[in-house]
Amino acid sequence: MDLAPLGTFARSRQLFGAFRYEQSDPARFYTLLASDSARQVAHYTPLSGRTLLDVGGGPGYFADAFRARGARYVGLDADAGELSLHGRDVAEGTVLGSGMALPFLTGSVDITYSSNVLEHVPEPEVMADEMVRVTRPGGVVFLSYNNWFAPNGGHETAPWHYLGGHRAAERYTRKHGRRPKNDFGSSLYRTSVAQMLRWLERQTDVDVVSVLPRYHPSWARWIVRVPVAREVGTWNLLLVMRKR
Ligand SMILES: C[S@@+](CC[C@H](N)C(=O)[O-])C[C@H]1O[C@@H](n2cnc3c(N)ncnc32)[C@H](O)[C@@H]1O
Repeated sequence: MDLAPLGTFARSRQLFGAFRYEQSDPARFYTLLASDSARQVAHYTPLSGRTLLDVGGGPGYFADAFRARGARYVGLDADAGELSLHGRDVAEGTVLGSGMALPFLTGSVDITYSSNVLEHVPEPEVMADEMVRVTRPGGVVFLSYNNWFAPNGGHETAPWHYLGGHRAAERYTRKHGRRPKNDFGSSLYRTSVAQMLRWLERQTDVDVVSVLPRYHPSWARWIVRVPVAREVGTWNLLLVMRKR
């Protein structure tokens, strides 16, 4: 499928429309999301010949998209099962480990990337610190996550997460007879927009390149500057930084 141009309303419509078939046709959905994301990263830094570490990369859709643009892709994930979801083979060059303790040398990576993982770790600031640490001076950190008060912040328990994460998980369990995969307090946490903006303000070894709502058209970027409204309206916060 052709991607609508970056920053346009048509692209946002395409992405939000794609969420409808995330469950029924994950290959189609994740292929679209990964190619859009690789293109968005390429907007900030060349990919060809660069080492890109994907923290919490999951199955190989992102590996395919970044390799198609010439990057030397290294995936890392904490869960071996996630790497072969949807019947996919584990992408070559994938490492098992935690985003909160990256098994890589300081300053060893050209581009450190993470999409929709930060909300799944108990200490998001530690993971963000680790991403900055392993990035080489001049390299780029591209960090995006689904913030808690977004309409889909509760993942499969949304919109009931607005009444509390534990309550939403209990409700899901009663309805489906099993715990949600994204279970509040063990695999899903309340990571706000303000929390990571505060983390960003404390950073001394990165320059901020961009702070924006990842899926929105460029005219809607102002939302991340408005306290409270940004927690609901951002959906997915993207931080792009360059290491000093
Ligand atoms: C929602 S998926 C995102 C996959 C992919 N990055 C994307 O954007 O579609 C979250 C991924 O984060 C991984 N993950 C959760 N906790 C992690 C941790 N502490 N370190 C690394 N990966 C983790 C999960 O195993 C899963 O593959």
